[in-house]
Amino acid sequence: MKFSIPQKLVTVSILGAAALAFSGASSAAVNADAAAALAKKSDCLKCHAIDKDKKASSFKKVAEKYKGKADAEAKLVDSLTKAPKVKQADGTEEEHKVVATKDMAEIKNLIGWILAQ
Ligand code: HEC
Repeated sequence: MKFSIPQKLVTVSILGAAALAFSGASSAAVNADAAAALAKKSDCLKCHAIDKDKKASSFKKVAEKYKGKADAEAKLVDSLTKAPKVKQADGTEEEHKVVATKDMAEIKNLIGWILAQ
């Protein structure tokens, strides 16, 4: 019994460390620098901004639209690779820009970044 208090402290600090490790892992899942560089290289930012509408919705709005949707990533992979027709702010339709890479890991990283805005 004389160890009961120190043991409790040990348990609490282990849980704390585990929580820290977990949050570290989840933020490392998206490489924001790589995503922003790909967005720039692909001219995405000509029409989109992170938090204000330009020619197209902000990435914040896109993230809100897809929040909690299990098929968000699959839908956005299609949006960025299959040049679907999209409605622009002025009401005209245009084929959407295709992302400037065929590397699915890079594409998914970009999508993860958009959905995290
Ligand atoms: C020529 C302008 C233009 C460029 C360049 C462009 N987009 Fe778009 N994007 C649009 C328009 C227009 C829409 C549809 C309307 C809206 O969401 O505002 C759209 C929609 C989207 C959507 C939402 C799709 C959905 O299902 O709601 C995403 C995500 C997106 N774009 C990402 C990107 C990325 C990433 C790039 C760079 C590879 C990019 N866009 C380049 C104009 C553009």
